[in-house]
Amino acid sequence: MRTLIKTKLSLPLLHRGKVRDIFDIDDANMLIVTTDRLSAYDVVFDQPIPEKGMILTSIANYWFQKTEHIVQNHLTDINLEEVLSNDEAEMLAGRAIVVKKLRPLAIEAVVRGYLIGSGWKEYLSSSMVCGIPLPPNMKLAQQLLKPLYTPSSKAGVGEHDANISFKETEAIVGSALATQIKEMSLKIYQFAAEHALSCGIIVADTKFEFGLDEDNQLTLMDEVLTPDSSRFWSAANYQPGKNPKSYDKQIIRDYLETLDWNKKPPAPRLPDNIMAKAAEKYHQVYSILCN
Ligand SMILES: Nc1ncnc2c1ncn2[C@@H]1O[C@H](COP(=O)(O)OP(=O)(O)OP(=O)(O)O)[C@@H](O)[C@H]1O
Ligand SMILES: [Mg+2]
Repeated sequence: MRTLIKTKLSLPLLHRGKVRDIFDIDDANMLIVTTDRLSAYDVVFDQPIPEKGMILTSIANYWFQKTEHIVQNHLTDINLEEVLSNDEAEMLAGRAIVVKKLRPLAIEAVVRGYLIGSGWKEYLSSSMVCGIPLPPNMKLAQQLLKPLYTPSSKAGVGEHDANISFKETEAIVGSALATQIKEMSLKIYQFAAEHALSCGIIVADTKFEFGLDEDNQLTLMDEVLTPDSSRFWSAANYQPGKNPKSYDKQIIRDYLETLDWNKKPPAPRLPDNIMAKAAEKYHQVYSILCN
């Protein structure tokens, strides 16, 4: 099995994110390498999930193509061989892509279709999700009447993303763009949720990132509808009120909740069986969704 934790290439490094290493190509393009690093609660763990980077890349590419009719995206048709040495291209096959260098918009476009995670916690204490009032007596994991757009700010290194109102997104990117991002995000979610459901998967929630291209056109970037950016549940086992069987890193989060850990680095060591189960989830969702 090929595992990649950190990339070193002949190209200049632009940025090392929690999961992705980004290299400069030229004014128009850059190389995104998705490593096998695991992050949870915005903390990067020492233990990788073998092949996770390839799975995330394949799933994101699948969705980029499937949603092309809704929104343009950052993919290019430039091959790795055109920008890397043969050895590098071979080493990174399946996990690196050449993308358009965009001007990132500092908004995380979150769409929630179901009541779970931080949304559920907020509902229990205030009957709202991100300030949006919900009906009483909703259950854990219950489907929302309609999907909600609940944007958050893009946090700096070491910080957590914070929920923001639609008004605040207007202040960040301007009113027209804020509306376009909201409408586009709901459209992509709706389309993807329907498609995933036909494969037996519920997309409970997800996060999109957008940038502007050289013509100031809104462009979908980063990763899209992967198990790192979304909650995927098994439709067959789904029951409101019960913790859903999930195909993402929920198993890791659930384990971390049992620890007395403040969710700040250093990350605790994860047991082998939890790592193995998480790896299995990533493989499963790929084969269910993309085949
Ligand atoms: N086409 C693109 N143009 C410009 N930036 C992009 C593009 N696609 C993705 N990005 C940015 O590259 C980074 C991807 O790295 P990664 O997913 O590891 O980051 P992260 O941990 O989520 O966030 P951060 O980079 O803040 O640590 C993100 O900051 C993302 O916004
Ligand atoms: Mg990211």
